[in-house]
Amino acid sequence: MENSLSPASIADNLETSVVGQRVIYYPSLTSTMVVAKREVQRGAAEGTVIIADEQTAGKGRKKRIWLSPRGNIALSIILYPSIVYLPSLVMLASLAVVYSIESVTGLKPQLKWPNDVLIKGRKVCGILIESGVRGRKVDYAIVGIGVNVNLRLVGFPEISAVTTSLSDELGREVPQIDLIRRLLVEVEKLYLALPSGESVYQEWRDRLVTLGRRVQVSWGKTEYEGIAESVARDGSLLLRCSDGSLTKIVAGDVTLRDYE
Ligand code: BTN
Repeated sequence: MENSLSPASIADNLETSVVGQRVIYYPSLTSTMVVAKREVQRGAAEGTVIIADEQTAGKGRKKRIWLSPRGNIALSIILYPSIVYLPSLVMLASLAVVYSIESVTGLKPQLKWPNDVLIKGRKVCGILIESGVRGRKVDYAIVGIGVNVNLRLVGFPEISAVTTSLSDELGREVPQIDLIRRLLVEVEKLYLALPSGESVYQEWRDRLVTLGRRVQVSWGKTEYEGIAESVARDGSLLLRCSDGSLTKIVAGDVTLRDYE
């Protein structure tokens, strides 16, 4: 598919007032997270988007590498939220991805706690939030979103069992630009709605395929197993263990034990 990414193609007539009003585009860079951090230090405006066609050192959670060749979406959004909204960023980012994929492709993604977007059980998007906090003040938050759009998994047998892309699911390429613009609009809608209260947490909770399932959660060297009973408003997972106790898990990788 012809590459037509540019700041203008993303930002022109974009129906937002904050998110994507400034777009910094690179054909190739190490990681949009690294460049976003630099832009924060230079005083970037809220909503600034750093986007790249290709990342050569994309960052995943837990210091993993995130593969992001051309044809996918790799972007970071700079925000300056109040500390009370910090836990909601991962919820709003994953919901925005779900809504934009639904609207542009008609596919029906699912959410796996804490922030994976899946299609038919395989990961199509990863989200990474980095923030700087001093006391009760958030200096910055960077919302990194990577979507496998036109990635041909046949070229990556080592990850194809657990990973998918929109083009592999649809059997055709997907215009990145439509998805990027929709995504920025959805992020803004949810971000500006945060002060109104309930909606982001409830919508995110209702979309989680994890709840009610038998799961294994690993975080560092610690492993938990049990039924994912619910999620707290701060995003943590409440796991009912086999001894009946309820464990609150703040972060981790979930394997759905009963996934079919
Ligand atoms: C994960 O491990 O699931 C999170 C992956 C996050 C990848 C995105 S791509 C855009 C942004 N830049 C990065 O280097 N990482 C995030």
